[in-house]
Amino acid sequence: MIKGYKLIQTTTIKDARGSLSFVEVGKIIKFPINRVYWLYDINQDRGAHAHKELKQFIFCARGSVDLILDDGKNRETVTLDSADKGILIEKPLWREITNFKNNPSIIVLASDLYDEKDYIRSYEEFKKWKFNS
Ligand code: TYD
Repeated sequence: MIKGYKLIQTTTIKDARGSLSFVEVGKIIKFPINRVYWLYDINQDRGAHAHKELKQFIFCARGSVDLILDDGKNRETVTLDSADKGILIEKPLWREITNFKNNPSIIVLASDLYDEKDYIRSYEEFKKWKFNS
């Protein structure tokens, strides 16, 4: 089991009209949300990077995707196939997004503004940064 991420079952209210799920800052999410972005019309694998500082809450509002998470030694795959689940990533982990089904829509709540300097886009570089620095 790798450390640095949690699969969250969100609070979900279901009634005759449908379902409503939510997360709140200060409860599930312990970081300020400074950016929200979303991925859709996806037709190739995405991700393949790590973040040095950025924290994220990722959920799949529609459809299904696999998130591969890797700490530089071990790798786990988490399937986000329901809008009431999310992944909280609070440590630098290599991530890949793959296995897209049913036209997924991925929403990311992120702790910081977009900053290319926070990205590590090579797996070898990620391992070097993590274990040799
Ligand atoms: P990238 O992070 O490479 O996408 P993914 O990891 O999901 O495959 O981002 C794709 C492009 O979009 C890249 O040029 C950076 C840009 N971008 C922004 O300008 N702002 C953002 O908030 C994000 C997430 C990406």
